[in-house]
Amino acid sequence: MYPRVVINITKLEKNAKIIHQMCIDNEISSCFLVVKVLAGFAPVVRRLAKIGFTHLADSRIENLIKYKSIPLPKVLIRLPMGSDAKRIVKYADISLNSELSTIIALNEAAKTQNKVHGIILMFDLGDLREGIFYQDDFLPIVGEILQLSNIKLLGIGTNLTCYGGVIPDEQNLNLLGEIKKRIENKYQIKLDIISGGNSSTLYLFNQNRIPKVINNLRIGEAVFLGRETAYGKPIIGMHGDVFSLRATIIEIQKKPSYPIGNIGFDAFGRAPDITDVGMMRRAILAIGRQDVEIADLIPFDSRIKIIGGSSDHLIVDLGSTKHKTGDILKFNVNYPGLLRLMTSPYVRKILRWK
Ligand SMILES: Cc1ncc(COP(=O)(O)O)c(C=O)c1O
Repeated sequence: MYPRVVINITKLEKNAKIIHQMCIDNEISSCFLVVKVLAGFAPVVRRLAKIGFTHLADSRIENLIKYKSIPLPKVLIRLPMGSDAKRIVKYADISLNSELSTIIALNEAAKTQNKVHGIILMFDLGDLREGIFYQDDFLPIVGEILQLSNIKLLGIGTNLTCYGGVIPDEQNLNLLGEIKKRIENKYQIKLDIISGGNSSTLYLFNQNRIPKVINNLRIGEAVFLGRETAYGKPIIGMHGDVFSLRATIIEIQKKPSYPIGNIGFDAFGRAPDITDVGMMRRAILAIGRQDVEIADLIPFDSRIKIIGGSSDHLIVDLGSTKHKTGDILKFNVNYPGLLRLMTSPYVRKILRWK
């Protein structure tokens, strides 16, 4: 049944082993495997969990609940909602945090469950997504956290190249080292985890530029797409084609490329931007924007061009190909596209070993 995402598990496991080894070679003592793109697809997560990553991480607690029988500590990487504290403490061993009120809610939930919940305090070093702004006076909040009976401050972390596109380098990552020193000196404690970011930090490995103070990374995209994300470069030996989408042609008609009549808006309320290139063999495929953003797909056959789509339809120009209705077309997909496809209940997920 189609549409389907085909997952080459052999290639995926190889990618995961390479990233795991890279972390070991660069003295990253704990590496969180971020599996959010699998959207709760446990068969694959179970296999990846055996590679050697120290923790399993996801942005959604619903996914971590699905992985509860997997014997790795679980990390929630999106800042928790205080209203969700009960199930976060129940199903995640660690969460990333920046708000005292949320940490207090986690402490209360942990008390009632007779647990100690680990937290990594996030610092914003300039990318301007989550974290305490590094120029702020952060020591008082640390003092308050240390008073909480059922919270363990495991370390500090940062997230870069997510909102502002800021690339990790020695300068911003060393700021995390300074924050660590100030916290440890003031409170006479040892922070075990200094978490230096995501797949965008990996490029520093090659250049031997990752500051020694960084001993943890949280890696997702590089494992799944085989590339670092600071510059989008493929990582040697890794596979960029672990995932592919297959969808079925449900109509082929020869039609003009330019619509006929007065033009208003498309099905999504946007003014169409269409170039007239004459007649074409147009195919409609049974997949749409409810399942994936069309711009996130790349046809395998370069003769085929995506020309648009709506909620349930993908329209392509078949060019010189000889396809007929019922044929299956194959697409490569980028990370946001993969996330949507994996999340769509209308898209089947199929494992392949070759
Ligand atoms: C806080 C946090 N850490 C790590 C990651 C993993 O990022 P990447 O997939 O670029 O490795 C993400 C995103 O998924 C994130 O939000």
